[in-house]
Amino acid sequence: MDTWVLWFLLLQSIIDYPQPVGDDWDEATRLLMEERAKFQERERIRLELEVEQLALMQSGPSWGDLLWSALQPWQVWAFVGLSLLLLPLWFMWRKRRREAEVSGEGEKEKESEEEDETRTYDLAWLLDERIQWPVQDLQAGCNRTTAMMEKFLSALRRALVGTFFPVLHQAIGFGSAFEGWTESGEEAVYHVLVPLTAPPGHIFRLERDADWLRPGRNFRVRVELVCSCPRGQEGANMLCFRHHPDVIGMVTQQPNLLDMLCTGSYLDVEKTIYFFYRLLEVSWQRLPESRSWHLALHCSQRFCHLRLSNSQESFQVQVMLGLQRFTSDIFISSRPRGAHTPSTMWPETYSIAETKFFRHMAMQLPQDSSHLKCLQLLAAAFQECKGFSIHSIKTIFMHQLNTVPLSRWHSRFFLLQLSDVLEQLRLALQKKYLQHFIVGNQRLPEEIRLPQDVRTARPSNLFHSLWRDQAAHSQAMQAYLDLRHRLARLLAYGHC
Ligand SMILES: *[C@@H]1O[C@H](CO)[C@@H](O)[C@H](O)[C@H]1NC(C)=O
Repeated sequence: MDTWVLWFLLLQSIIDYPQPVGDDWDEATRLLMEERAKFQERERIRLELEVEQLALMQSGPSWGDLLWSALQPWQVWAFVGLSLLLLPLWFMWRKRRREAEVSGEGEKEKESEEEDETRTYDLAWLLDERIQWPVQDLQAGCNRTTAMMEKFLSALRRALVGTFFPVLHQAIGFGSAFEGWTESGEEAVYHVLVPLTAPPGHIFRLERDADWLRPGRNFRVRVELVCSCPRGQEGANMLCFRHHPDVIGMVTQQPNLLDMLCTGSYLDVEKTIYFFYRLLEVSWQRLPESRSWHLALHCSQRFCHLRLSNSQESFQVQVMLGLQRFTSDIFISSRPRGAHTPSTMWPETYSIAETKFFRHMAMQLPQDSSHLKCLQLLAAAFQECKGFSIHSIKTIFMHQLNTVPLSRWHSRFFLLQLSDVLEQLRLALQKKYLQHFIVGNQRLPEEIRLPQDVRTARPSNLFHSLWRDQAAHSQAMQAYLDLRHRLARLLAYGHC
């Protein structure tokens, strides 16, 4: 596929984009392909004719011979000299013609393998020029975040030995930075989730929230005490958590989890976050890192925000707490769900599974896959579009990653990938239907582990709200047009 031609097509279709049109792109591509096939056929015939003529010339006195014999020796030298003079000019003309093609005025030229390569190279160069790819920095940032969190958590675990507070497990990085792209031009925020499990003598039971009017799937965590009494003799064991919590409290001198972090018998998000925040604050002083880094620690009701800085650099980490559902990649987490989320509610989160999907795909895709560049370019053009979220674009992108053949993610097809995502976005907006990538998706790779109820759930529609609200729908369509427009400007001028 000729990358440049596609590039034109995209640029033109974007820049001269009057209104949402039907299958223009496909139609244009088809026409282009036909045109190209005809052109190649003409070229083939022309070459054949030339070969025939050459054969004729060799079999008798030819034009060339006649010309040659008619010329005097001085004329031959003048001819050669003139050719030498004209040759560089011809090369320059060819070069300019190619450049003219880039700006959209050129016409088709005979192509060779070599030229194809140059063009692909040119495009790669252009994109690298246009957008700053943060991938290298991100990897270093992710490594640094993971290392720092591990130090934090081992200090916290030491502090919690012998207590009945939830057990803290290794932090899991998720979100755009861990997937290899950034959501906006601003500083990257590294998101991590710290999984909790029940301390000794306790059980966490996850109960699905019954309020179906609340968006999404939400859970509560019921904290129960384990009974260690012999069967049929409940209360016989003096060191039973369930029957003699007071005795246990006296022996261990430790407060009970139910008294400390729960509301009723449910684990309270806000109390747990606050407890985690206090622990971080106290433990930081004891870490050797506190001598070389400055920590600014803030906590909202549902997550902790860390900014670590020294004289050379700084980075931000946002920490959520969560509980794993069975042994899957789905967690319930402390993240907020709307303005009045009850403090005992833990919404289900799919971010960990999504990040795992990106990692999984990165291993499957060709070495020079341009999928992240494609997503990054979309994110750069997105800039807080009102009407849909960057997560909608990411969702479409993940559907594409999951269904388009792997070889099509080669950087050669970059513009095709970009236009595919845009087209899917347009269709989704038009139909007001964008299927959730995780919930109810039967086609996920096996590596992404889902609980049975998530796998078999009815697929949810992320554009559901557009059905009710016509104004929101118009706004979303407008946002889509703006996105295309900004994308074209970004490709053409390097800024929106
Ligand atoms: C990040 O860590 C991985 C594995 O530990 C390593 O292979 C990679 O080189 C590191 N990247 C950077 C940029 O430090």
